[in-house]
This record gives sequence, structure tokens and C-alpha cells, in this order.
Amino acid sequence: VLFISVSVIGQTIDQQADSILNLMTIEEKIGQMTQVERNALIIDQDIATYSIGSLLSGGGSSPEPNTQESWANMYDNYQGIALQSNLGIPMIYGIDAVHGHNNVQGAVIFPHNIGMGCTWNTELIKTANEIVASEVAATGIDWTFAPCIAVARNERWGRTYEGFGETPEIQKLMAEASVLGLQGTDLSLNETILACAKHYVGDGGTADGIDQGNTQMSEDSLRQIHMQGYIDAIDAGVGTVMASFNSWNGEKLHGHDYLLTDVLKNELGFEGFVISDWAGVDQIDEDYRTAIKRAINAGIDMVMVPDRYEVFISHLTSLVNDGEVSETRIDDAVLRILKQKLLLDLFENPYSDNATAGDFGSQAHRDVARQVVRESMVLLNAKNDVLPLQKNGQNILVAGELAADLGAQCGGWTISWQGNNGDITTGTNILTGINNLAETSTITYAPDGNYSTAPDVAVVVVGEKTPYAEGQGDRTSLNLGETDIQLMKKLKKAGIPTVAVLISGRPMIFGELLPYTDAVLAAWYPGTEGDGVAEVLYGDYQPSGMLTHSWPKAMWQVPVNFGDNLYDPLFAYKHGLQEFPASAG
Ligand code: GLC
Repeated sequence: VLFISVSVIGQTIDQQADSILNLMTIEEKIGQMTQVERNALIIDQDIATYSIGSLLSGGGSSPEPNTQESWANMYDNYQGIALQSNLGIPMIYGIDAVHGHNNVQGAVIFPHNIGMGCTWNTELIKTANEIVASEVAATGIDWTFAPCIAVARNERWGRTYEGFGETPEIQKLMAEASVLGLQGTDLSLNETILACAKHYVGDGGTADGIDQGNTQMSEDSLRQIHMQGYIDAIDAGVGTVMASFNSWNGEKLHGHDYLLTDVLKNELGFEGFVISDWAGVDQIDEDYRTAIKRAINAGIDMVMVPDRYEVFISHLTSLVNDGEVSETRIDDAVLRILKQKLLLDLFENPYSDNATAGDFGSQAHRDVARQVVRESMVLLNAKNDVLPLQKNGQNILVAGELAADLGAQCGGWTISWQGNNGDITTGTNILTGINNLAETSTITYAPDGNYSTAPDVAVVVVGEKTPYAEGQGDRTSLNLGETDIQLMKKLKKAGIPTVAVLISGRPMIFGELLPYTDAVLAAWYPGTEGDGVAEVLYGDYQPSGMLTHSWPKAMWQVPVNFGDNLYDPLFAYKHGLQEFPASAG
């Protein structure tokens, strides 16, 4: 590294990248294009042997203990090995920090993007991403596979919550805010990290919302609906773009040279590097060598292999030696990768820096997340003076098992890939939030809604019980569960004023339930700061969130999107009561 740093002083980033490239063998170049999951390393020393360009942690791939310090030590260990390679080119470490540094115990978990979008507050979302970058940087990690800017058009899709909403309008606003928050304007600063706009392109447009499915539409529709946010992400300087698993009109994006090279790189002017998705190259062709050839020639620059890296390297080396992949293409990919590493100042500062460690999971960070929670709440309807709750003199029943389930309110991509129920990390569940703000009012918790003394009001927390991620969240029905329906009917039939709080990754079908509730608050996946939900319920904060997804009346309406002909959802795009209705009496 000393040799390289001495040789490149005084040059532009591009000149520095060229200088380094000229020192590299073809094996070292191919190594830089290889990303390996940390658990797939046969021996750690392979990082140096193959000059591996990048490591990643897949969802839940954490060191033990799962602490900020332990992550930073792990990062430094891997980096130390990378610097032992012939040229000592530092590796770059990627992770899915998609709503906070969500693999790490004690990190602040923000609302998932569907809630972020409902704030419509780009300044706040930029600040939130600055905090995510700070907490990721505190563990040494340089790169997050975020923001997911999917325009989710069919809420049956399990990744609906990872996107900001159903329109290019919200995609554009939040793509810019997220990338600027994560990367800032100077990637060399310790508290900024490389972002990744994903999944390019059309991930949210597949038929029936089937994850990794086929997005069947004209090029004009693909550009107008799904591609616009990438223009904003590129304008904001995004350093990486992740290719999408889906196909466009039957052709896999991972092998699509027109969309990856002609459009993304040449027409839209993307100068960063394209990373594949998890074994996304493998899906192009049953012959792995052919798949690699098509993917690299199409414009994939780094391959998230993520396991059989020695096979990948061997195939790509033979493809280059046989002239089936040109060294010009390899050089273009490696220059793009080196440029981002230079912008990150990794050659001069390859190791973790504890500068931001003291703020990791801090109350100051949690306060910002709480503000995002407040502003993400969407009050869908409220019939009378059931809201706000009273801090004094009220007998409040809290019902529904989701009221006291931190894991459920965080959703997928939290501590583990799919997420889990229960007390999975440091945070405040909704019940605790309601208790925290009560003064003389009494709070009774009954998951099943049973009570001895009739309460003045019931808060029923309902929704998607089991966290999920990716295809495991694909559904054919978005109807609320029978337990939730019976719980709300029971309370309403007993004459109890009822507020439904919905924990979900998407609009759910209420069906005939609305008459059984006096108010409905969409809380999405609020993350660890459940106090924010309680503050809106008590009126400390007026509801301000506005829908980024049209709310379907019934499953037969799905998909229903703003701009459709005969547009008649239950609640429209941008709907959201901005205050509690005056007492109707
Ligand atoms: C997953 C997801 C992608 C994620 C990657 C690494 O399959 O599709 O969003 O960044 O693999 O975890």
C-alpha cells in the first residue's frame, strides 16, 4: 500500500486508478471483481491469495459476539489479510444496512422504506441515512446495499416494504435523499459510506408481484415507472448499482447488455460499478461458465458469487484467456471498482476508525429514528373523538400480540435475514411506548382483548405477525388474519371505542372491518423506536404521514396504482388525515 500511495500522489482519481491497473495481473483484476460471503471463505488467507476485491455479510451473517466492537475487529482482520496480497489493494466490505445497521445488536433500527416514504420528508430521510452511515462506519464497513428504490406495483410482493412506494415520484425523492445521506458529498470522510441503488431495473414490476419474476411491459413503461429514480441516484453520485434478479420481457437483467451497459452506463452516465445480486449470475444459464460470460459482457462489474469463488475465478480467467471476455471489459470493470475504493480513501485509511463508535445506538440517533416513526404514521380514518388517547383519567386496553413484539415491529432484515418475533434487540415496543407516556391513565395489556373492567378505549395492534424478507413474503392474499378480525369485532360489539394500529409491510385488506374500528393507524414496520407510535396516539404529534401506496378495497383490486383508469381504492395515494377530527359527538 505504501508503494501504491507513493506512486499515485498528485494524480486525479482516474489517473490513480489507471496507475494501479497498470500494475495488476489478469488474476488480480479478476480477483477484484469477486465478492465473497465471509462464511464461504475456505481459508481467510484466500482473500490475499486471490486478491479478493470485496467481502459481504449476507442477512444475519454476524460475528460472535454481535457487537459494534466485534464487527470492527472482524473487519480489520479481513482487511489486514487483503493488504497482504501482492499489491495490497484494500477490500471493500458490503452489507444490507437497509433500515439501520440492522444486522448488529444495539443498532438503531429505523422504519422500513415504506414508512420512510410516507413521511414525504426528504430532509429527515437524508438525516436518517447519515445516521445509518455513521453506525455502519463505526463497524468499519464501507458499503451498504441500500437504498432499495423498487417501485412496488403489486403489494403481493414480499419486498414491497423495502421500497418507498408505488410511483416514480416517491422513488425519485427518496433515492436522492438516501444516497446523499449515505454518501454525503465526500466519500473519504469516515462517517460516509458507499451506497447501492437497487435492484436495477423493474424489480417491483413483476407479474403478480412474484419475487424475482418477469416484468412484462414496454420499454417506455419500464423507463417511466421503474427507472426514473436511478437518474436521481446517479445525479446524487451513487457509487454502485445492484442488478436485479427479475427478467424484463423474459430476459434476465443480470445478462441484459442493453439495460446494463447501453442504458445505465452509456445513456444515463453511471460511472460507478454494477454489483450482481446474490448468485444472480448463476440464474442466467445452467452452464455457469456461459452465465459468467454473459453477465460480465453485459456489464456486471463485480460478482456477488457469493460462495464458490475459486470456480468463478477459474471460469472468468479461462474466458479471458480464450478471448470470450475481453481484457478491455475486465479493465473497465476494475477501473470502476478501484475508483470507488479511491474515493473511499481506502488505500490511505483501510482500517476501521472508532471516530463514530461512541454514537452507535445512541439516544441522539434514536431520537431521529423516533421522529421518522412519528412522521411515517398514516391515520387512515378516525370517526370521532376516539383519538387522541388521554394520558390522564382514561382506562386504556391494549390488545393484540403485536403490541408487545419488538421483532414484529422491526420486520425482516433485522438481526437475521428474515427477522424474528420477540425481544431481538434494544428497543421499545408499542405497549411500552403507550405505558411510558401514560400519567394517571391505566394501561391494561390483554393480547386476546379480554378485560374485567370495561375500558374507555382499546388500542388493537394487528397485522403481519411473522417477519419476512424477499420471496418468503410473497402472498396471494393480503386479508387480515382471522384472529385480528375476531378481536376487533369482539371489542366493537362490546361497545368499546377501538383504535386499530396496523403493523405491516404493505396495505392489508380490511374488508368489512372498517365499521368495527373507530380509527385506523398504519404504522408499517416502525423499527426500535415504538415511542413514536405512542406519541401520535396520544396527540403529542399530529398525524402527518401520507400514503405512498394506494390502499385496495379487496384482493380483486390488487394491483391498484395511482394513475390507473377507473382508480377507486379504499384510500388513495397520498391519503392521510393530518389531524384528529374534532369530536363528532
Ligand atoms: C439478497 C437481495 C439483495 C441483497 C443481497 C445481499 O438476495 O436480493 O437485496 O442486497 O442478496 O444480501
